[in-house]
Amino acid sequence: MKNLPMGDKQELQDNEFFNRFSEISNFTVLLDETKDSNAPNILLTGLRGVGKTVFLKKIKKLFEKDYLVLYLDFSRAEVYQKNNMSVEGLMNFYYKELIKESKCYGLNTFDKRIEKFFKTNNFKIKDFSSLNSFPIPIIENETNSEELINFVMDLPNKIYEENKDKIKGIIIFIDEFQIIKELDNYLESFLWKFRSFIEEQSNVAYVFSGSMSLQDQLISDIASYGGVFGGRMITFSLEPFNKKTVKEYLSERASNLILTEDAFERFFKCTSGIPAYINFFGRLLPKDIELNENDIEREFVDSISVFSIQLISTWSGLSSREQSIIISLLDGPKRRIDIANILGLTTGSLSNFLNSLQNQGLINMNKSNNLYELCEPMLVRWLKSEYQNKGIYPYRKI
Ligand SMILES: Nc1ncnc2c1ncn2[C@@H]1O[C@H](COP(=O)(O)OP(=O)(O)OP(=O)(O)O)[C@@H](O)[C@H]1O
Ligand SMILES: [Mg+2]
Repeated sequence: MKNLPMGDKQELQDNEFFNRFSEISNFTVLLDETKDSNAPNILLTGLRGVGKTVFLKKIKKLFEKDYLVLYLDFSRAEVYQKNNMSVEGLMNFYYKELIKESKCYGLNTFDKRIEKFFKTNNFKIKDFSSLNSFPIPIIENETNSEELINFVMDLPNKIYEENKDKIKGIIIFIDEFQIIKELDNYLESFLWKFRSFIEEQSNVAYVFSGSMSLQDQLISDIASYGGVFGGRMITFSLEPFNKKTVKEYLSERASNLILTEDAFERFFKCTSGIPAYINFFGRLLPKDIELNENDIEREFVDSISVFSIQLISTWSGLSSREQSIIISLLDGPKRRIDIANILGLTTGSLSNFLNSLQNQGLINMNKSNNLYELCEPMLVRWLKSEYQNKGIYPYRKI
């Protein structure tokens, strides 16, 4: 009997992917308008682990027969990994991936013309990586950055124009888009510019996705009426599975997991319907014996540090001030002044830490009452259970 997929898989087989029928159908309709020169721009949001990445990869498979579909994970860019974020570095990454994918599709990427372009604009070429013996120039960072940005942002359109006899359009998914918040002044340096190019490209659809809470400033910067896209960005939020879906999922895909009605209720509560947690937890539970509510609670406490592995790495990456802020919020939302008092700091000196935690989607500032609150339920549960078991919060690296 097949088990549930791992809770951290980045791509699911068709027989592992569950549900999301209406979301797939909505996306399909919208994205297919690209062929009529009506390419949409979409923002896909949702909690961590809700399934944004696997959803995009599923859509990619559906479209790649007719379209060039590029899936980019901005967090894989070298400049991000090396903690050295810059627009130029992101553009370099974008460029390389676009050329690579285009070549894999067998499209004409007009190499001679690109080479000439590089020469005439005095780009410094650091290196060449090659793909099927085609050289892909790696552009040096100190290059003429305005030129580089313009060139790269315009490239998808050029590739489409050059290959429109072969493809119906181009679809670009940019996952982990929220990391642009680490760019200095991301609005001016990146978003506005990007928008001006995107708007001109009627055969290139863009889907931005990432873990952003609905309160996130980035979402209003992008999608609100006063934002960069002036309300023309279509927003989708991928929701956790509801109770009925979870029930169907378990009975179809984990039929040897036997839960009483109460046990199921507890399972749903523990996982909050988030597919990553459902899979992590569902895989760990004993099979072929009936489990009751107490069994689930006990197993959950035992296994929480195993399946919150992603959160542990997030937690270990926080500074001790950031960890203290999170711990101060465990017993409920607080005003900035209250957090400052608990930490023995002035409210002003909290700004950087609060911003960083908000950028990572770990806390929110609720605009209706100005209270800061935690928005990662699994982290909350894990910290509380660590405290219960060990009598102390895990301040040091795990
Ligand atoms: N439709 C689905 N069917 C079955 N399992 C799913 C589905 N969607 C998500 N999952 C499970 O949830 C896990 C996490 O999904 P995914 O990485 O796509 O989440 P995410 O929203 O991109 O999270 P993050 O914000 O952390 O990047 C997957 O590895 C898989 O185990
Ligand atoms: Mg993801």
